[in-house]
Amino acid sequence: MRFSLWAWLGDDSKSSWEWFGSNDPYYGVLSGDEYRKGNLSDERIKNFFSSGAAHVDHVARTVEAHFGGLRTKNCLDFGCGVGRLVIPFAGRFEYVTGVDVAPSMVREAQLNCEKFGVRNVDFVSSLRDVREQFDLVHSYIVLQHIPVSQGFTEMDAMVEKARPGGICFFHFTIGRNAGVVRKMGTFFRKNFKPIHYFLNLVEGKQANEAYMQSTEYSLNKFIARLFGKRIREFWIESENHGGRYSVSVTFRVPEIY
Ligand SMILES: C[S@@+](CC[C@H](N)C(=O)[O-])C[C@H]1O[C@@H](n2cnc3c(N)ncnc32)[C@H](O)[C@@H]1O
Repeated sequence: MRFSLWAWLGDDSKSSWEWFGSNDPYYGVLSGDEYRKGNLSDERIKNFFSSGAAHVDHVARTVEAHFGGLRTKNCLDFGCGVGRLVIPFAGRFEYVTGVDVAPSMVREAQLNCEKFGVRNVDFVSSLRDVREQFDLVHSYIVLQHIPVSQGFTEMDAMVEKARPGGICFFHFTIGRNAGVVRKMGTFFRKNFKPIHYFLNLVEGKQANEAYMQSTEYSLNKFIARLFGKRIREFWIESENHGGRYSVSVTFRVPEIY
């Protein structure tokens, strides 16, 4: 067995998500105490999936309002988690592909699809396993958890997975309202697991709860990348989640590159 000092001391995103998928999957997706494993109820699970349906309605309305119609053959959801969005997408598209790096999240998503009687969904662990192109390529509250350079690479790959004339909807964080002390805390927490475990205890959490990485992207750099792909028209919405500022960028991929 290979010993990795980095994996022991610092953050390893894939194993963090595997931890959440195995130990606290709904909290891993929407980090509110009501979605902690011990606090879940039928009512809360219902709210959890209703929030997904509301988001998918919003995506559909946004596309309709700003880009006209959307073909509904297929949809790709990158970072699909437990299927909160895949399930309502499956009601709108002939079939949906969910991509998630954590096998434990995918297992929960498969159980949820069975529970909701949804059969037109398949799952893969990486965009590299996706062979076709899609009418809608979507990602929500995922890229913020991926290191920026990797996130930009994933976004480039996602654009390639949209068919010519297809639509992309990408959500990512662009800043946060945090002082120097908080930023230093985040740095140490991210790079030294013992400090993270100690702070978990201070916050009343299980000591070994995984670290949920959070990164911020430059919107300017993202737009410049779209320009490089001859994409000049996009619709941008912003959100503020308790001092974390994020955007959702919707655009149509040109018919001919
Ligand atoms: C906060 S959850 C969001 C789930 C879903 N998008 C939703 O809104 O319900 C983030 C998900 O992204 C997945 N993820 C993180 N990094 C990933 C990567 N590099 N490739 C694919 N999935 C990833 C995690 O395993 C997790 O299930």
